[in-house]
Amino acid sequence: MNQVNVVLGSFYGDEGKGKIIDYLSQNADFSVRCSGGNNAGHSIEIDGKKFAFHLIPSGILNESTIAVIGNGVVVDPKVLIEEIENIKANGYRVENLRISDKAHVIFPYHVQMDKLQEELRKEDKIGTTARGIGPVYCDKFERCGIRMGDLINNRFERQLRRNIENKNEIFKIYHYELIDAEEVIKQYKEYAKVLKPYVVDTITLMHNAIEEEKKILCEGAQATLLDIDFGSYPYVTSSNPTIGGVCTGTGIGAKYIGEVYGVLKAYSSRVGEGPYITEQDNEIGDTIRELGHEYGTTTKRPRRCGWLDLVALKYAAMVNGLTGLAINHVDTIGKLDTIKLCVGYEKDGKISMDFGTDVEYLKDCKPVYEEFEGNFGDISGIKNREDLPENAKKYLNRIEEIVKVPIKFIGTGAGREAMIICK
Ligand code: IMO
Ligand code: MG
Repeated sequence: MNQVNVVLGSFYGDEGKGKIIDYLSQNADFSVRCSGGNNAGHSIEIDGKKFAFHLIPSGILNESTIAVIGNGVVVDPKVLIEEIENIKANGYRVENLRISDKAHVIFPYHVQMDKLQEELRKEDKIGTTARGIGPVYCDKFERCGIRMGDLINNRFERQLRRNIENKNEIFKIYHYELIDAEEVIKQYKEYAKVLKPYVVDTITLMHNAIEEEKKILCEGAQATLLDIDFGSYPYVTSSNPTIGGVCTGTGIGAKYIGEVYGVLKAYSSRVGEGPYITEQDNEIGDTIRELGHEYGTTTKRPRRCGWLDLVALKYAAMVNGLTGLAINHVDTIGKLDTIKLCVGYEKDGKISMDFGTDVEYLKDCKPVYEEFEGNFGDISGIKNREDLPENAKKYLNRIEEIVKVPIKFIGTGAGREAMIICK
């Protein structure tokens, strides 16, 4: 057994990380979010009840798990408080929540700046979630950010006033609404009171947990192809949702990390702009969207849908050092008569497995497909991989063969129980 296991998104997000995390956190003493903010959306279904988490690690629902919002996360206090209230209202406890004192705080000017920047990008919009994620990470690196520790200890007013003064200069130019510093201070002091009991030094918390040989599960948000370094820049998010972000976002050293699970769907999807080689902007994509309910948890936007891309998956396996795959929605893809699997890119007459995140490079890459038969039937109750229908086995075996990473989990339906755990 490893002390620290990690779950990461392999594509453009929304792979169903929540389902795997929910399962793995049952054996975890700590469940930790490492990066991103409320641009993420994990939905899990328990006893027919659907939970949508944006910030709080989904491990919170396990009685004995401590849920940690790590230092690499950016926190919108309003959203966090709403989430806390919602969990309580559903009869779950939140005393097991810990928030890093070093997590940066999202303020209303970050959200407004996100919207303004999108507008200024004109025809080159990224399609952000408009949650202020890019601007708050900019402030973090510019070194004018305000952290949770500053907020709860009431040492943020001077920096906040200065930030608002500076941002308002920009808002003035573009005739955006000006932010009232005093109002924000008043509001955020209220938030601070509510959140104070949860804020701690989570880095020490993690180190003590490691020394005490506790089990830690790191929950990825976003995904490999949205990574600021490894994704299809500039159509990415402003953090590192890949393996490195786990270390910098928690304070856990690399040597403690054991399994790194890459989550994917048996097809693929993307929200927002940017290249997407296997996209099916046609009837097939529409069918997948309806069958898989591919509408955003965070923004409700219809997701772009397409076939599974093994060139991209192999890239994710390399970047993150994946030790296992978790494939969701195998039931969904099995509803189609014919399934396509992208096994290479063709460019200038040559076929390769080279994934380039350069937008210009990707522009003329054409997917090379292999075809598989679908019609898997109802597989939701199957508990052993060997008992899957032949067509499903063929499809899954081929994925493993090409990517050379073993499949550890197979999602067979929406519910918590609908999953095969491979031996
Ligand atoms: P989960 O955790 C899907 C996308 C946005 C946009 C780009 C930048 O649910 O998998 P941002 O607001 O982060 O500056 O937007 O990244 N994006 C996601 N897409 N799932 C997510 O998270 C995402 N988080 C960000 O749609 O294209
Ligand atoms: Mg999402």
